[in-house]
Amino acid sequence: MFRQLFDSASSTYSYLVASRHGGEALIIDPVLEKVDRYLQLLRELDLHLVKSVDTHLHADHMTGSAALRDRTHCITVMGEQTKADIVSMRVAEGDKIEIEGMSLEVLYTPGHTDDSYCFLMDDRVFTGDTLLIRGTGRTDFQNGDARAQYDSIFNKLLKLPEETLVYPAHDYKGDTVSTIGEERRFNPRLQVASADEYVELMGKLSLANPKMMDVAVPANMHIGLHQDEIARKGWALSVDDALLALGRRDTAFVDLRERSEREKHGAILGSLHAPYAALEENIAQGGMLHELAEATGKTILFYCAYGERSAMAVQAAQQAGIAAARHISGGLDAWRKASGPVVK
Ligand SMILES: [Fe+2]
Repeated sequence: MFRQLFDSASSTYSYLVASRHGGEALIIDPVLEKVDRYLQLLRELDLHLVKSVDTHLHADHMTGSAALRDRTHCITVMGEQTKADIVSMRVAEGDKIEIEGMSLEVLYTPGHTDDSYCFLMDDRVFTGDTLLIRGTGRTDFQNGDARAQYDSIFNKLLKLPEETLVYPAHDYKGDTVSTIGEERRFNPRLQVASADEYVELMGKLSLANPKMMDVAVPANMHIGLHQDEIARKGWALSVDDALLALGRRDTAFVDLRERSEREKHGAILGSLHAPYAALEENIAQGGMLHELAEATGKTILFYCAYGERSAMAVQAAQQAGIAAARHISGGLDAWRKASGPVVK
């Protein structure tokens, strides 16, 4: 299932993808003002939103990712270079963004910004603002770099098969889709003989800043879930307190991350693996974590990458009647910074 959605105020395309009716869905570059529309469409198509992905930190519109997380408990995903305060999951070149029945390959394509990514899905590539239809994303702010963009486009995107469909994050002329071969031949910005020529071309553009820039950039940098509310309820452990609980028999550490994140970044020694995607069944009556808490009286100590999934999990577990649910503030990121032991 594939839907290309348009926000006319910012000329932004957002993409909703899923492998089947009734299954998991993912959205790319949602726009804040359109969140109600997405939620309605998800209901109509009987889809369960599990990931909201931004190709980069946008300057021309506010991302809908945080609102979607708050309303659906999906997880937010951005590249590891992002300046956004908290995203649930950060990805890098070569990673995969997976949902039920589907997988997006992550391509790091800096240039428009230093946190710009493209996502390859079978016959199509979501190019963000790296490659537009008959254009390319500007490179004159947010650590943009025309030379890096030349490299991203010529040495990554144009190396994809000619027939690969190109779905950009914006179009200002009404085009909806192109192909790699078409852009190679007809995109005026790509008719250059060298990186130097491309840099010169981009340097001459002198564009006005986007209208929304002063509002959108700071807003898009502060999209993290307010973990302090969880802490006020007494459901959060600082890394220091979590370190003291390590190895104690009264605490079960529970890792909510995906297998690929565990393999890449390691995990806390002795922690159980219960991925966030299966949280609901694990915390329900009869579920693994519910039974563990009830049978042993142990504190269920959730953690994830940055503390966002675990903050949502602790709230859900409390609602499901697991009074001994807690989480580690700041997640494995904070744990590592405090030199907490990690095993691969
Ligand atoms: Fe952009």
